[in-house]
Amino acid sequence: MTMKIRKAIFPAAGLGTRFLPATKAQPKEMLPLVDKPIIQYGVEEAMASGCDQIIIITGRGKQAIEDHFDVSYELEKMLEERKKTDLLQIVRSISDMIHVAYVRQKEALGLGHAVLMAKELVGNEPFAVLLADDVIDAEVPVLKQMVQVFEQTQCSVLATQMVEGKAISSYGVLDVKPVSGGQFANRLFEIKNMVEKPKPEDAPSKQAIIGRYILTPAIFECLSETAAGAGGELQLTDGMRLLLQKETMYAYVYEGRRHDTGDKLGFLKATVEFALKRADLGGPFREYLKGLKL
Ligand code: UTP
Repeated sequence: MTMKIRKAIFPAAGLGTRFLPATKAQPKEMLPLVDKPIIQYGVEEAMASGCDQIIIITGRGKQAIEDHFDVSYELEKMLEERKKTDLLQIVRSISDMIHVAYVRQKEALGLGHAVLMAKELVGNEPFAVLLADDVIDAEVPVLKQMVQVFEQTQCSVLATQMVEGKAISSYGVLDVKPVSGGQFANRLFEIKNMVEKPKPEDAPSKQAIIGRYILTPAIFECLSETAAGAGGELQLTDGMRLLLQKETMYAYVYEGRRHDTGDKLGFLKATVEFALKRADLGGPFREYLKGLKL
């Protein structure tokens, strides 16, 4: 029997220290790219990839995420009374979007720990993990590309990107073997090993893990057996290394353009690119940028 990916987990309990002071009292997942919170891009991607259940891992100070996906009676009533139908439709479409469940991670004990929090809600089926910070502009949503790989392999799939030079030390890096032939030629690799944040000279390849994963439920047992690693945090990469000893796992070099919006410069670049693409803002924004004496 082939399994489908129905559930998508969004770990959002991190402290967002790279974006202080903006993230002191508001979640970084709610920072807007033009006019839409970062996490909504990810939720829309998950839905467009066939997921119908969203699980968000939250923590202290993340209430705004729950409010965003909830009904806002006062706002809707006011927009209705003032006959602002376009805005009303935008606001309603968010709360109508999908069923969202929330699990609280009491302490930010790492990404692996955050994923483990969803164990009961996920149960015994494969699922997706999306890190909302990684906003990816792609013709075919990246998770959908990965679901296609999963449908063929029925194995865990990690999205990867080629990273040059010293920057590789910020990622989980894979040792891989190409899978020849087939519809994913040149993009699909079997994973041999993985290392978290290696020194450039120790990196087994240029293939870095980004914030999109499809995992089999065996990961939960692996995470339960994993000891806290770097910084006292339970690392997802350590859990996945254990999973690799039990099951075949694949790396898939996604097609698309990724923005690391958890980083200030990445956020600025994404804002400019997304604004330029907008039908309502692109023209005047381009004119404004041209006028800057750079
Ligand atoms: P990051 O490494 O980006 O950490 O976490 P962070 O705390 O969010 O941000 P910085 O680095 O301090 O600026 C990767 C993802 O894992 C989640 C984060 O919310 C983010 O989506 N996460 C991390 C948790 O949910 N819980 C944790 O304990 C740690």
